[in-house]
Amino acid sequence: MLATEKHTELRSRLNGARTETDKLFGLVRPDSLYERPIPERHRIVFYLGHLEAFDWNLLREPMGLQAFDPGFDRLFAFGIDPVDGGLPSDQPSDWPSIDEVRGYNQQIRRALDHAIESAGPGRGHEGENRRVLLNVAIEHRLMHAETLAYMLHQLPLERKANPPSVLRSHTAPVAPGMVEIPAGAATLGIPRDNGHFGWDNEFEENAVDVPAFAIDRYKVSNREFLRFMDSGGYEERAFWTDPGWSWRTEHNVTHPGFWLRADGRWRLRTMFAEIELPLDWPVYVSHAEANAYARWAGKALPTEAQWHRTAYGTPRGKERPYPWGSKAPQAPSYGNFDFRSWDPACVNAFPEGRSAFGAEDLLGNGWEWTATVFEPFPGFEPFPFYPGYSANFFDGQHYVMKGGSPRTAACMLRRSFRNWFQPHYPYVYAGFRCASN
Ligand code: AVJ
Ligand code: FE
Repeated sequence: MLATEKHTELRSRLNGARTETDKLFGLVRPDSLYERPIPERHRIVFYLGHLEAFDWNLLREPMGLQAFDPGFDRLFAFGIDPVDGGLPSDQPSDWPSIDEVRGYNQQIRRALDHAIESAGPGRGHEGENRRVLLNVAIEHRLMHAETLAYMLHQLPLERKANPPSVLRSHTAPVAPGMVEIPAGAATLGIPRDNGHFGWDNEFEENAVDVPAFAIDRYKVSNREFLRFMDSGGYEERAFWTDPGWSWRTEHNVTHPGFWLRADGRWRLRTMFAEIELPLDWPVYVSHAEANAYARWAGKALPTEAQWHRTAYGTPRGKERPYPWGSKAPQAPSYGNFDFRSWDPACVNAFPEGRSAFGAEDLLGNGWEWTATVFEPFPGFEPFPFYPGYSANFFDGQHYVMKGGSPRTAACMLRRSFRNWFQPHYPYVYAGFRCASN
């Protein structure tokens, strides 16, 4: 593809990502933009400013532009990832008015769009750097399109405006079981300078030898997780790690965060409704709960390399770009992703997305927790223009998630993409499947 074509494509992808995040803010009733749906995170108004401030802080200097509001540039620069358990205590009155933030946003978009268009694709290294920065802006925004959905999920239903109509999937009964994966290689990461965009943590390519193991064909469903609960899984100390048990006890966690109990029945809080618990949807839980279930089942969470081999390995040895082969990710046949749905579908709804070893539902329908602590691959280099993106989280307190959720953009379903969260964060669209070694 020519540099000018790539540049045009990046500009239209940036606009597409903006449409996606604009829609999310449109789902919040105007009087609710100062709410804080997740106690550990910022108020919604922060994110309204953050998405533009991030692009502005990233691209301002490289594009030769001048700051016009350095105070806002700093205020909206970074979110929070509270490891010590402390909660923010700022008040709505500590934040600027919505009109001020919208004015700031408009000015940024106008200045950036003009600069990006008149700069053109650039040549050689300069052009390559420009494309990396634009990809960072696009994918950063798309990641927030997903994490904002987690946040708005927790916003009381009556504070949401214009709920869209919702898809419901129906499939044949699920017959859970495991697939056998023979010993072989998992090629994690990507080589540097391969012409494709990746975040700092995706480099470099590194092959891992994975001994034979078995893994669940599907993600663990609500039905299966209920069995763990009904057999006293939340009360049995032996199923929990030390930090997992402290969390479970301190917060008196007795069921998945998205579940509610009403009239003696389990219900599920979806994005726009409360419904009877769909038993064949994947369960969304924290890493601590996933790990406890796996121990109860006499299994374990898969490592990142095991998950990778399950998804991309083949009996003949050559790995594929996607579980189903090499065709670009396309909803709905390959999986529940790319903003098609607000909620999960049944775990067996995507047989066409199955991997060469027969595991299903690997991309989309909920991220999958792994047993692997988020660490750099050999040869890791932080991005000089965003040194903390991954490195701030190499603290042993975050676990790798693979796959994707209904709210994950298709571009982030590439094989090397790695997501991560703290093991006790219950708001992520993440479930799991178990492995046996
Ligand atoms: C990669 C999804 C864990 O939301 O904390 C957004 C992405 N980093 N802004 C996060 C991110 C900075 C990050 N995750
Ligand atoms: Fe961010």
